[in-house]
Amino acid sequence: MLVLGIESSCDETAAAVVDEFGHVHADVIQSQVALHAPYGGVVPELASRDHVRNVAPVVRAALARAGRALADIDGVAVTNRPGLVGALLVGVQTAKGIAWAADKPLVGVDHLMGHVLSAFLRREAEDAPAPRYPFVSLLASGGHTAIYRVDAPRSDAIVELGATRDDAAGEAFDKVAKLLGLGYPGGPRVDRLAALGSASRVKLSVPMAARDSLDMSFSGIKTQVAQMVAKHETSLADGNANAHAGNSADDSWVRDLCAAFQAAVTSVLARKAIEAATRERVSDVVLGGGVAANSELRKRMCEAGVERGIRVLLPTPASCTDNAAMIAYAGSVRLMSGEQDGWDLAVASRTALQRTTRKGRGKR
Ligand code: KG4
Ligand code: ZN
Repeated sequence: MLVLGIESSCDETAAAVVDEFGHVHADVIQSQVALHAPYGGVVPELASRDHVRNVAPVVRAALARAGRALADIDGVAVTNRPGLVGALLVGVQTAKGIAWAADKPLVGVDHLMGHVLSAFLRREAEDAPAPRYPFVSLLASGGHTAIYRVDAPRSDAIVELGATRDDAAGEAFDKVAKLLGLGYPGGPRVDRLAALGSASRVKLSVPMAARDSLDMSFSGIKTQVAQMVAKHETSLADGNANAHAGNSADDSWVRDLCAAFQAAVTSVLARKAIEAATRERVSDVVLGGGVAANSELRKRMCEAGVERGIRVLLPTPASCTDNAAMIAYAGSVRLMSGEQDGWDLAVASRTALQRTTRKGRGKR
């Protein structure tokens, strides 16, 4: 089965062709990073307009790269939630048009389900083992951060074991990068600079470190960083000879702060994901979402997995960050089990996955 996937939930217009075994035949992404960079974050109206411009060329490019025509495709999968409503509508209406014109089945996909299943994707020579159900999924992206038990690839078979009570992990990376003047998106930039710094030179307390809770919190650490940056700036203004020269990538203070922040966030994510797997007695932990591309998180997860006898499955970085291949694969799972959506397929800003952690408060 060959599925055309379309993704437009945020700031990436993407299309891919994937089969039911997860083999990626084509994966095209048109990023809007440059468009939103001057604003330090995604501007919804600009995102929608850019999706309108790019969606048809991106779909055409994906089919061309796969060497396929629409007639060869067995179904069309599209992200219909969660995300920016105006952005989602562009992908969903495009998918409906294509499915209607080519007389193919249409399936809506929850973007988070795409991330949860991204470890099933196989790109070219990739031969990593596929996850075995049930597994624990650590999903850490710019909009969501949660730990799930996944018994099957259906939303009613996925249970949230813990989640952030405030900011998502990726959101914290982006905000810290902004505070340090590193630009947007912050994750990859902090990752690069952290590798050059020393975490032990900056003291940051790790949020919600308690072992018995799988909930997380990332807004406190961002506030700690904001206070340090303000103090550092005051110290510079006072002419403190020991302070370094401003917030730039070649400032060793900035590198050390990135290292300390990244160490705190990744240690908490890794520890809780492994803890969840131990508690749930599952043998596999699967990562997904943009933060799963982080080099330190990947290293910590592998080390912890070896230590605790748990298999850690890391999708390649291209499968972690937003892409349409994961949407096409999740769509193929629905189509293979005989599901299909109608022309009334709607969009929603919230996920269909069950949520048990309330913002600011913990369990429902
Ligand atoms: O999954 P994703 O592409 O989009 C959402 O669904 O949100 O995740 C984007 C997030 C951004 O916050 C970005 O800064 C973060 O993932 N990210 C990273 C890295 N690459 C992307 N965070 C830490 N380290 C990275 N290498
Ligand atoms: Zn995402």
